[in-house]
Amino acid sequence: MRIGIIGAGHIAGKMAMTLNQMHTASAYAVASRDLQRAREFAGQWNIEKAYGSYEEMLDDPQVELVYVATPHSLHYEHARMCLLKGKPVLCEKTFTANAAQAKALIDLARERNVFLTEAIWTRYLPFSKTIVDLVNDGVIGTPRMLTAGLGYPIADKERIRDLNLCGGSLYDLGVYPINFARMVFGCDVARATSTCTKGETGVDLQNSITLSYADGKMAVMQTTVLCANDRQGIISGDKGYLIVDNINNPQEAVLYDADHTEIARYHCPEQISGFEYQVEACIDAIRNNRIETPYMPHQETLRVMELLDSLRKEWGIKFPADNTPL
Ligand SMILES: NC(=O)c1ccc[n+]([C@@H]2O[C@H](COP(=O)([O-])OP(=O)(O)OC[C@H]3O[C@@H](n4cnc5c(N)ncnc54)[C@H](OP(=O)(O)O)[C@@H]3O)[C@@H](O)[C@H]2O)c1
Repeated sequence: MRIGIIGAGHIAGKMAMTLNQMHTASAYAVASRDLQRAREFAGQWNIEKAYGSYEEMLDDPQVELVYVATPHSLHYEHARMCLLKGKPVLCEKTFTANAAQAKALIDLARERNVFLTEAIWTRYLPFSKTIVDLVNDGVIGTPRMLTAGLGYPIADKERIRDLNLCGGSLYDLGVYPINFARMVFGCDVARATSTCTKGETGVDLQNSITLSYADGKMAVMQTTVLCANDRQGIISGDKGYLIVDNINNPQEAVLYDADHTEIARYHCPEQISGFEYQVEACIDAIRNNRIETPYMPHQETLRVMELLDSLRKEWGIKFPADNTPL
């Protein structure tokens, strides 16, 4: 499948590197706001076509799937542009600025019968399924408590600092522990309590979120753009616990019993970058005329966006994009 990339930035490079090592997909085109940047990116990653406008690339009939790799605030506009041109979309996390935008995109994908999915790559990893299966198989007994954190010292990056780009810790990092908790513990959340500290630009720099589930389970999460942390996810049950290293790119899970004795170690299978699985999921869905994937169904993307909306409301964080008409 020939992939076109929108935005010649950091994560676009990781995707291009991954596509170059895949047999079922290729990095065919890249579009940048700046033709020179597109050409340099294309040269670096051996990409056939370089475009100086996003729209121009979408008019190329050879492009079969578009990877949207722009800042959060622009995902809606860029994914919408793709759908209106009939191009299937793999859109980076965080999916949109808010739930209303997510719903509008999903409705459009349905109306036009065009494939759309969120590139929350951990959802598509085989090792994520291994972790979920282990918990469901009862290796830790009845699951009760989950803790997960993610931190990188990236607060000075423009994309993170700028409220206009939907910056902050929640949208850049917070979605990983949230998706980890929802993958393992499901979505029957009765209550969410949270707090954050804000930076001078109004984005959240650190946050802590606790989800209380209807059946009594609890997920306690924190993310920060001010410092590195252990990135661990720990799932505890009445018979033991599983430590996942790390929730942003799970490589290993270690099982302990309730006496803290190590029982088993599980390892991630060899992979390119891990991005290949989300691309494979897109290919499979598109070839089978589906407009979503089972790994991250539209409804789940929407529920996550609704949770993010409610957390921002609690913290008094409004993005300029919240006021933009759909
Ligand atoms: N899956 C992951 O592991 C992972 C990791 C990091 C980031 N991400 C996600 O990937 C997306 C992009 O992040 P990134 O780290 O790649 O950011 P980045 O390096 O800043 O790249 C974003 C690109 O978007 C384009 N762009 C269009 N309008 C822009 C504007 N007004 N301001 C800035 N850039 C604009 C630019 O490309 P042109 O100038 O070439 O058009 C820019 O290079 C975000 O959604 C982020 O959450 C995912």
